Amino acid sequence: MEILRHVVLFIHLIGFAVLFGAWAVELFNGRRGITRLMSYGLLIAGVAGLALAAPWGIEYDLNYAKIGTKLVILVAIGALLGIGSGRQRKSGAVPPAIFWLIGILTAANAAIATIWR
Ligand code: HEM
Repeated sequence: MEILRHVVLFIHLIGFAVLFGAWAVELFNGRRGITRLMSYGLLIAGVAGLALAAPWGIEYDLNYAKIGTKLVILVAIGALLGIGSGRQRKSGAVPPAIFWLIGILTAANAAIATIWR
């Protein structure tokens, strides 16, 4: 069970890497758009995160305040991806505030995961 939990955590981290990596590519190539890869990353991180939110394969208590905060942030990122890609379709560009918030909130979730104990 413990090994399986570590595998799910690994998948969770792949989702985070795909989301943040796809965002970083858009930041550095100057397009600053929203790509489908970002949504895939969010989906992978979200599904694996929900699986990790249940207390299986561990002998300590989970920090539900931390997990709840991460869930709220994940939903906010999902909303920004939806609104941003809608704007991108209509006007060809994503408002800078939406683009930056996606990266900042993703990094914030990783910071919360690693720093808040
Ligand atoms: C963009 C969204 C997310 C990012 C970037 C993210 C990032 C991370 C990272 C980097 C870790 C490893 C930390 C460590 O093991 O020390 C982690 C672990 C974890 N994440 Fe997430 N996460 C996200 C969303 C979620 C969601 C939505 C949930 C649950 C509803 C969740 C639940 C967990 C749990 C339970 C762990 C296991 C480690 C622990 O208990 O602290 N995550 N996450």
